[in-house]
Formats: sequence, C-alpha cells, structure tokens
Amino acid sequence: MKLKPIHNLKNIQGQRVLVRVDFNVPLKDGKIIDDYRLQAALPTLEYLLSSGARLILLTHLGDPQGKAVPDLSLKPIANHLGGLLKRPVIFVKETVGYQADAAVNSLKDGEVLLLENLRFNQGEYQDDLKFAKRLAAYGNFYVNEAFSVCHRKQASISALRRLLPAYHGLQLSGEIKALDKILKPELPLVVVMGGAKISTKLPLIKKLKSSADKILVGGALANNFFKHLDWEVGKSLVDNDELSKLEIFFKNGKIDDKIILPLDVVVKNESGQAQVLPVKNIKKTDTVLDIGPETIRLFSNYIKEAQTIVWNGPMGYFEEHSYSFGTLNVAMAIAARSTGHAFGLVGGGETVAALQQTKMEEYVDFISTGGGAMLSYLGGEKMPGLD
Ligand code: 3PG
Repeated sequence: MKLKPIHNLKNIQGQRVLVRVDFNVPLKDGKIIDDYRLQAALPTLEYLLSSGARLILLTHLGDPQGKAVPDLSLKPIANHLGGLLKRPVIFVKETVGYQADAAVNSLKDGEVLLLENLRFNQGEYQDDLKFAKRLAAYGNFYVNEAFSVCHRKQASISALRRLLPAYHGLQLSGEIKALDKILKPELPLVVVMGGAKISTKLPLIKKLKSSADKILVGGALANNFFKHLDWEVGKSLVDNDELSKLEIFFKNGKIDDKIILPLDVVVKNESGQAQVLPVKNIKKTDTVLDIGPETIRLFSNYIKEAQTIVWNGPMGYFEEHSYSFGTLNVAMAIAARSTGHAFGLVGGGETVAALQQTKMEEYVDFISTGGGAMLSYLGGEKMPGLD
C-alpha cells in the first residue's frame, strides 16, 4: 500500500492509530542518554493527539533477536515520553497478547499506549504476516514515523503497512525531502564518507559518484583504499573480505580523481603514542586512528566550495581525545559551510554524536535520524518501508 502524508488522515477522533516510531535510543542504568529520536517523533504524535486519536506506539530497542531481554524493555522510554508529551504513556509488558488486547480495548481518545519491544518477537524479524495481522487488529490506521528502519524487511515496517490504510509521519516526510536534495543536488556536491564497512558505504558512493564533484574518504574506510593500493596500513582496521569491491574506483591502478584520500594520518605508534605521518610512511607497527592536519586542510577546502554536502561516518576514533581532531574539524567545517551557504546533511549515530560534540548541530540544515536507512536510500537500494 502506498504511504500517504499524515495530513490526509482526516476524522480520526476516537480512531486507533498504530504509529511505528523508532525509539531505539541509547540507555544507561535505565535512563535515556539522548532522546533526539523521541523529540523527532513529537510533532507527529502531537498532531494525531490534537485530532483526538488513540495512539498505539510500536518500536524496537536494540537487537534482542526474538527473545525478551529485560534490559531492552521499553518501560523507561514510556516514562520519558510521558514527560515530553505532558501526559501519561500507558505501557504493557507484551507486544501482542491478552494484556496488550485489554490495554488497546480500554484506550480512550487522546490516550497513548506503548507496546513492548517489537523485537522480543521472532515474527517481527521474519516479516511474518501472522504477527503483522495481530498488530493490525489493534488499529484502524497505520503511520510510519520510523525512517531509520525503513531499510529493514520486518513485520512492523513491511507486512503491516499492507494491512491497514497507511500514512507517513512528518519526520519521515522531512527525511525524504532532505535526502532528495542530495539526489538532485545543487553543485558542487561534496560527499564526506568515513566509518569502517565497505559494503554499507559502497552503494552510496557508487550512486553519488556521477553527481558528486568530490568524495572525501576518511576513517577506516580510507585504510581499505590504501590497502587496495598496496600501501602499508600496519595494524589498522581493514575490511579484507570486501576489498576487491573497490576495484570499480580504479583504472590502470590509478584511483578515480573524484575520490579524495587522506594525505596524512594520525597513528598510534609502537610505543602507544599518537603520531602524525604522511600516508606513505605508515609502519607495520602503526594503527591509523585519524586523518592528519594536511588532510583536514584539504577536506575543508573542498567543503568550503560546496553547495551541497552530505556526511556519514567519522574520520577516525574520535571517542579518544588524541584521535578526535580530524572528525571534529570536519564536523565544524561542514556546520560552518551549511545553513545559508550550502545545504548540509549529516546522518548516522556516531556521526551525529561527533557533530553534537562541536555544539554546532543547529548550523547543519538536516540531521537524519537514520544511519543505515540513509545510506540505503541514497544508494538507491530497496526500502521495504517505503514505496
Ligand atoms: C538505527 O539505530 O539505526 C535504527 O534504529 C535501526 O536499527 P537496526 O540497525 O538495529 O535495525
């Protein structure tokens, strides 16, 4: 079923609306550390509540593989959400079953019910129609407000939307609009890619290579290119199984001139010290953990010229102070160039965390709630949650 915008959902006073949200947030000792995904869903939830709907919220948390894992219960999320919505959020300890049935049946207009973690059920992982039908029985309408899981073929994303009149939430619409600006960019388009796994980044690089002016590669992803060029990478992280996939970016042993690799790096050397080195001087005993100052300057110069910028994946191990400068400087360069100068979009959990460290996130035009989903959408892959 084709998803329609939520504003098409009329006369929903007293109707039960199943909203698939993504409240997969970091928790510590039962407390939410970062609630940006809850905040992002608020406009949709408030819109539905102001229309007198009865909300039944569905989300996953973590990856419990079909088993009930107490640490991944949604109870703390219900409490936190209640504070944000300024009304109680009813919570039941099961996703489907007698307790859930009873809670759904006694729900009143303007009330909110959060069902237990979808991924405590194998049926969710298996995109199981029976499980989806049990969920569908709880609602009159379905709203997808979980862009960040739309690349997953799971019951609450895929099967369920075919069983009820289906709509998309405001955040999801915003995501698509923003990502479409990257697919039809104002030029020059500069793509900044870091992180580690080749397979997750490759579709996007392939897809954007024709429209992008430059693709700036950092993080462990760059090590893979070094290795492919037969350069020494020491003890650095390399995705050996996927290396051959980089072949498409090389012609006669020379790399495509749109792909810009680091000129220098920061390594952890044999004695455990951080040391800046030109890339050709990496030793067997070194581990590459950041891009170096020459590379920061080079990348910043490209970013300053861009009209459209998309960034996914840190430039190194920014969690450790000595190796954080590359990622944080790139974050600041992107933030400084965005909003008014260029359209800047940043996505991915770690990438957004790095941007937040700079305290410059409000200078970026759009922060995507999706990491994998953003890569899949921009890479032109099939999205079971979207048309
Ligand atoms: C995310 O955190 O990116 C989304 O919630 C998707 O989670 P998943 O990768 O476990 O499907």
